[in-house]
Amino acid sequence: MKAGLAYCCLLVLLLITDVCGQRRPKPKPVRPSTTRKPPAPKKPTSPATKSEPEPQEPTDFPPPILGPPSEFSDCPRECFCPPSHPNALYCENRNLRKVPIIPFRTHYLYLQNNYIDQVTAESFKNCTELKWINLGNNRIRSVEKQVFEKLPNLLYLYMQRNELKEVPDDLPAGLEQLRLSRNQISKIPPGAFSKMEHLALLDLHHNRISDSSMGKNIFKDLKNLIQLNLAHNILRKMPANVPNTLFQLFLDRNNIEEIPQDYFKNFASLAFLRLNYNQISDKGLPKSVFNVSSLLDLHLAHNKLSNVPLFNSELEQLHLNNNNIESVNGTEICPPHNVHDENGAPKLRYLRLDGNHLSPPVPLDVIMCFRHLHAIVI
Ligand SMILES: *[C@@H]1O[C@H](CO)[C@@H](O)[C@H](O)[C@H]1NC(C)=O
Ligand SMILES: *[C@@H]1O[C@H](CO)[C@@H](O)[C@H](O)[C@H]1NC(C)=O
Ligand SMILES: *[C@@H]1O[C@H](CO)[C@@H](O)[C@H](O)[C@H]1NC(C)=O
Repeated sequence: MKAGLAYCCLLVLLLITDVCGQRRPKPKPVRPSTTRKPPAPKKPTSPATKSEPEPQEPTDFPPPILGPPSEFSDCPRECFCPPSHPNALYCENRNLRKVPIIPFRTHYLYLQNNYIDQVTAESFKNCTELKWINLGNNRIRSVEKQVFEKLPNLLYLYMQRNELKEVPDDLPAGLEQLRLSRNQISKIPPGAFSKMEHLALLDLHHNRISDSSMGKNIFKDLKNLIQLNLAHNILRKMPANVPNTLFQLFLDRNNIEEIPQDYFKNFASLAFLRLNYNQISDKGLPKSVFNVSSLLDLHLAHNKLSNVPLFNSELEQLHLNNNNIESVNGTEICPPHNVHDENGAPKLRYLRLDGNHLSPPVPLDVIMCFRHLHAIVI
């Protein structure tokens, strides 16, 4: 009896060891070793272990991490200056509260994932050669006047995941990419993007931008804009005077109710248009608003449509899931095309209609019209 109990205990013990062994394949060395690499930071061993609490403002921030002295005398101690890349300065993930003094030779500056709350002129006084700045995932609330304006070579400015309430003004005219997503921006000062003729990417998604946050001509000077992301804001209207050079326009998760007639009239390159999660009804869509021959991918999921809108024969993907569509008439939605030419059939390949009031089978006239259709989800 006793032996049996002991055996059971042993078995249980073995099982526990085995489970632990699976979690931690390498047992800790018994003797502290000086020759081996330092152990990796401890990971939580069970889901019950709570992760570190979020640091509290402002005293609970962990101390800045300083690196070993660099061979460059101007290398800030908070940063890493790779000897083989004297133009790069790596200061990310170091618990920094402020931007160090940036050396003149820096072209590429990495400051993401810190606790920086302000961008001051002092730090950027002597680094006029800067091309890229990544300040993503900090706590920046304010940018001192004319800090960036004095960086004539700046091409990329990334400030996503901060606490900005306004688009910083005085941005340099040569900028090509500006990322300001996931801030609290509710105001775009007049002229914020004026003269920015080279800007190709403007990302403002996940902010608090409303129709009144910006003037009618705010995007007008962006003569080379290719991608504009205004998703996840509080717009009720389509933004005015958006450049017709756009290739991608993302407006998901706003409160847009309608698209004005001719809104896309002179858009020659627009290929990707996303309007998921808005309030668009049939009434808000003029009949030929999507008659844009460059359009390849149109997203209108989670709106209030009762009918399939008309679209061009070049369109390849159409997302209409989660609307109020009750029927599809393939004859009515079939875009004009050359019926005598096999290659002239409308190019639609993928159609999503699930989450509406439809049930299979797919109407025959839909299949007859869209001969390139690979998948249809009902
Ligand atoms: C700016 O950098 C240059 C080149 O390294 C240096 O000669 C000059 O003293 C610096 N100026 C200031 C104000 O730090
Ligand atoms: C669509 O646009 C083409 C020219 O791009 C035009 O010829 C055609 O009439 C338009 N169709 C509708 C329904 O507006
Ligand atoms: C589809 O629309 C066409 C043209 O408007 C009409 O003649 C036809 O009867 C409709 N089909 C169905 C099934 O309602």
